Amino acid sequence: MEQALPLNKRLALRQELLDTSDGYILDLPKVELHVHIEGTLTPELRWELARRNNQTLRLERTGTAYTSLAQLRGSYYIIEPRPGHGIDNAEESFTFFEAYYGGFEVLVKEDDFYELAMNYFEMAAGMKVRYCEPFFDPQGHTRKGVGWETMMGGFRRAQMDAEERFGIKSSWIMCFLRDMSPESAMETYQAMLPYRNMVVGIGLDSLEDDRPPSMFDDVFALAKKDGFRITAHCDVGNKDTYQNIRQVAATLGGGSGAHRIDHGLNAAQDPDLLSLIKGKGIGMTCTPWGYLRHEPVDEIFPRIRRLFDAGIPIAVGSDDPAYMEDTWILHNWLLVKKMCAFSDREMATLARHAVDMCWAPEGVKAAIREEIEAVVAQHEP
Ligand code: HPA
Ligand code: ZN
Repeated sequence: MEQALPLNKRLALRQELLDTSDGYILDLPKVELHVHIEGTLTPELRWELARRNNQTLRLERTGTAYTSLAQLRGSYYIIEPRPGHGIDNAEESFTFFEAYYGGFEVLVKEDDFYELAMNYFEMAAGMKVRYCEPFFDPQGHTRKGVGWETMMGGFRRAQMDAEERFGIKSSWIMCFLRDMSPESAMETYQAMLPYRNMVVGIGLDSLEDDRPPSMFDDVFALAKKDGFRITAHCDVGNKDTYQNIRQVAATLGGGSGAHRIDHGLNAAQDPDLLSLIKGKGIGMTCTPWGYLRHEPVDEIFPRIRRLFDAGIPIAVGSDDPAYMEDTWILHNWLLVKKMCAFSDREMATLARHAVDMCWAPEGVKAAIREEIEAVVAQHEP
């Protein structure tokens, strides 16, 4: 079986991309539509929040305590691939979800949520993200006893301060954890409603195995009826991925289908799915650096190319940047440019796609479109 790129090659590739100093990609105004706010928790911020909250950081399964920031930082680089996927980092010792949910432990107070979001907004604004729709996973926090006001209050304050200080606008996508029950999803939906003016969309994430989107159809149908946009993760290479992509595109939300698909790259291998998605005008979010960690290169970029060439709108995002070799939206844009051999003109098309796909008010979209065209004109030979 062909292997995914090992860690040393991924780190070398990351450096190579940064060394290209591609001013055009840097300058293009960006819209980020696939980032989990909890996946932006850097080791540095996690260490600091743990210190402030008087916590000892541990890997829950083994009880290993992290005694230095360097040790914690190192742990971010030894996350396993998913079972069944080829990779040759023999030293890898724990799963992405162990690392990811482990990070939730330091998010206790309103200020912790504020700093998490502010750290992301500042980083994103530095890469010219003008508007973003970060995912958040409320069940991961409420099941530990965190209150809604703690979480949403921190996010709200960060959203307002970031717009004022960094000029970045945002709206949230609340995700249900698909490894929890549909009843819990429904309770979570109801609990979110007092904060609905902060939330533009509803998504579905976490461990996908044997948890098809259709299990959650009641709550997605209600959300859609209530005016929320809906989307769902269809992880690349999942054993039921074709069935799951079909459900999201065709029926999720009471029979009519979602407004977007997160990932769903395997649709490129199925002509019926391609024409279904294209026919309905559904956009797809795509986070290529994450795929590099568990899929062979030849099974990633030709598929992204095929979706793009089929005329399906694609928004390239960053997923869980802190846990993916510190690769943010800029690295992901540079990566697709190189590996799909996208021209500058095609990269501008991708920038426009993300604006088309986002759920911002028309005035916000128009301003970003104008800025994109100015950068395109400025870089024209
Ligand atoms: N996949 C599925 N669920 C997630 C992820 C991911 O990469 N990150 C956060 N929730
Ligand atoms: Zn994701």
